[in-house]
Amino acid sequence: MKNIVILISGRGSNMQAIVDAQIPGARIAAVISNKADAEGLTWARERGIATASLNHKEFDGREAFDAALVTLIDGYAPDLVVLAGFMRILTPVFVNRYANRLMNIHPSLLPAFTGLHTHERAIAEGVKFAGCTVHFVTAELDNGPIIAQAVVPVHDGDTAATLAARTLVEEHRLYPQAVADFVADRLIMTGRRVLRQG
Ligand code: GRF
Repeated sequence: MKNIVILISGRGSNMQAIVDAQIPGARIAAVISNKADAEGLTWARERGIATASLNHKEFDGREAFDAALVTLIDGYAPDLVVLAGFMRILTPVFVNRYANRLMNIHPSLLPAFTGLHTHERAIAEGVKFAGCTVHFVTAELDNGPIIAQAVVPVHDGDTAATLAARTLVEEHRLYPQAVADFVADRLIMTGRRVLRQG
């Protein structure tokens, strides 16, 4: 059984999709938020999943927050740490601690549109296809090895909200699949490439 700790900051719909997928061999050990009032924490708590919150504003700098977060996470002995809408930039010490077992989902087809406001920027840029990317997290923002991607069309009448909604449907399919592939040891790393075996 592999222990999974999921970090969220808000509604946690990707976290919910991962929990609901009931991935064989995976145990959701905890859901942790930097915001005590994150909707996703309530959802997880109602399902009997351990939850915790750690307010980044109570710490003097990113290093101190990340050190406390590591202590909290490690209490759940994670095999995999999943970022699901966790809106904090993590320090290299944190990222390196969970090297090759720290995943994120980003709402663009990386390496295009790293950072925030991806849907607005995709529409403004005039791209015809957008999507989402699950990747391993490295110290450089949104730049880690790509595990899986899904593509959605951009329609002429799209707003950031309509494109986000279309992308989110794919996120909820893609992220549980990527976690399941990790749990089943199907992901093989060769350099920056992540190959899926089987
Ligand atoms: C998703 O769009 C995800 O790609 C991005 O933040 C959003 C989180 O949504 N990283 P949710 O909290 O999982 O509903």
